[in-house]
Amino acid sequence: MGQTLTEKILEDHLLDGELETGEEIGIEIDQVLTQDTTGTMVWLQFEALDLDEVQTEIAAQYCDHQTYQFDFKNTDDHRFLRSAAGTFGAHFSRPGNGICHNVHKENYAAPGKTLLGSDSHTPTPGGLGELAIGAGGLDIAVAMGGGAYYIEMPEVVNVRLEGELPEWATAKDVILEMLRRLSVKGGVGKVLEYTGPGVETLSAPERTTITNMGTELGATTSIFPTDERTEEFLESLGRGEEYVEIGPDEDAEYDDEIVVDLSDLEPLIAQPSMPDNVVPVRDVAGTEVDQVIIGSCTNGAYEDVLPTAKMLEGRTIDKKTDMIVAPASKQASEMLAREGWTAELMAAGVNVSEATCGPCIGIGHVPGSDSVSLRTFNRNFEGRSGIEDDSVYLCSPEVATAAAIKGEIVDPRDLADELGDLEDPGFEMPEEYTGSKADLIPPEDAVDDELIKGPNIADVPLKDPLDAHIQGEALLKMEDNITTDHIVPASSDILMYRSNIPKISEFTLSRVDDTFPERAQAADGGVLVAGENYGQGSSREHAALCPMYLGIEAVFAESFARIHKANLFNFGIVPYTIDEETYEKIEQGDDIEVVDDVQEGIASGQNEFTIRVNDDWEATARLDASERERDIVVAGGKLSYTKQQAEEG
Ligand code: F3S
Repeated sequence: MGQTLTEKILEDHLLDGELETGEEIGIEIDQVLTQDTTGTMVWLQFEALDLDEVQTEIAAQYCDHQTYQFDFKNTDDHRFLRSAAGTFGAHFSRPGNGICHNVHKENYAAPGKTLLGSDSHTPTPGGLGELAIGAGGLDIAVAMGGGAYYIEMPEVVNVRLEGELPEWATAKDVILEMLRRLSVKGGVGKVLEYTGPGVETLSAPERTTITNMGTELGATTSIFPTDERTEEFLESLGRGEEYVEIGPDEDAEYDDEIVVDLSDLEPLIAQPSMPDNVVPVRDVAGTEVDQVIIGSCTNGAYEDVLPTAKMLEGRTIDKKTDMIVAPASKQASEMLAREGWTAELMAAGVNVSEATCGPCIGIGHVPGSDSVSLRTFNRNFEGRSGIEDDSVYLCSPEVATAAAIKGEIVDPRDLADELGDLEDPGFEMPEEYTGSKADLIPPEDAVDDELIKGPNIADVPLKDPLDAHIQGEALLKMEDNITTDHIVPASSDILMYRSNIPKISEFTLSRVDDTFPERAQAADGGVLVAGENYGQGSSREHAALCPMYLGIEAVFAESFARIHKANLFNFGIVPYTIDEETYEKIEQGDDIEVVDDVQEGIASGQNEFTIRVNDDWEATARLDASERERDIVVAGGKLSYTKQQAEEG
């Protein structure tokens, strides 16, 4: 039987286990990436593990999420990250150099390699045939030290692309169509492998828009085979020698198949406030738009900004609409500036920003109250833009630009008819990506050789080994689809404490219930209850680390998002699954006791545990965990577990 591309790369990197769906496998990691909001913890944990040198082929530290240096804390974090990269042997990308996925794609991503990143959109270079997975910071620290990365062997789904995109439809519409069909849970436990004749009609950067947003489907990762379009892209980046041809065998067997005919697609848009709330743009045409932003790791590349600049050439945007363009990398900014496109944008009324994640996580360019913002980003979770009850739509650069011209949502095909002189700018790649590498510091040019820690950088807290008995108040009962943004909000006034767990814990789940942090501290222990898909969103390990710091011992949820579940194990919190009936019956404030001996049960492989609620009624809670995950949670988390392992040799 032939192999899928995913199986081929995994087999090449397999260190432990067998490639059988659902089985835990350990794989070798070639490259790691980390960014500023997760990176400080990665390096503090690397240090706490007594590791002294990066072992992977490439380790890259980017500063992209919180690039504005509002006060000393953020600047200190950046300096700490530079010093950690220098001390331990990683590449360092300075604040302002661009978003991790874009800079990584431009400089390091390579077909056939494995990449692990402490950011949920790490799968972006899957568009170049790299098997790229997002994970928590502690997993990154261990992989960077040469340890295997463990994951459940996912199902592999064949997403067969047919036909060719019609005018005004883009790669963004391909992934929005996938979200419309499958929802934000449709990819959980799966790798989406793109195949079929439609693949060659898409350039490598277009493919990366699709793989980037596979994260919103909950997929482990997404990947494309390589071909001359991949080679062409690597050559234009000056890295042609890194090209290898890889793809599935002709008789590869997949767990499932989805067919998308590109010719049927039209401009689509995700309505507030979920990326899967997708409709044709024409369905919401006429909605007044207050703000438009082009940027992010999904659609902020040179090739994404170029269509905007072309559409705006010789025009101005609507007077009541603000428009911001934040290219995703400084290389893109530099090229657009040299070619004169930045001047065109400025002349059209656009505010051209530095290369940063910024507005994608509510840092800068926060929409006004009761206003509509159209963004080319990948997420529109409620409140993520920096204001509660926001109204954020997600779409392609072409749709966003059309809205900026008209001041309201409009299908660009209709705007073209109305204006008479607006043409589909199409997708164009430069022959050569130029741009200085002044902001990329390789290990051999490291500035520092010892860690520099400012006063806001605190040591990583450790948890004691798991107790035999879990009992506590259900301190919070939450609904479905609670995101890591709900658990630890990503706004600038909170994120500046990312390297200081005692301080940032004071904001834990405050967006759901602002009394929670205080109640949790006072209770000195307790549990959380949630509906489906708990912890969806980002790889932010603070979403597990902060509850751990506040004494949370277990989360009882109908289901968990993959990365967050791994993070809960990593920080010694037991992720129990409960059925819908039990979820409905439990109320906030109930007393929940796990009747069985938790320590012994988990260690011995027990899957079902009895819980007693208010000493009144009982139900079953499931624990689906590998042997390794059980050992980790019993040890009190991965830091203690890894240290134990090292001591045992
Ligand atoms: Fe940054 Fe937003 Fe992407 S925070 S990494 S631009 S999802």
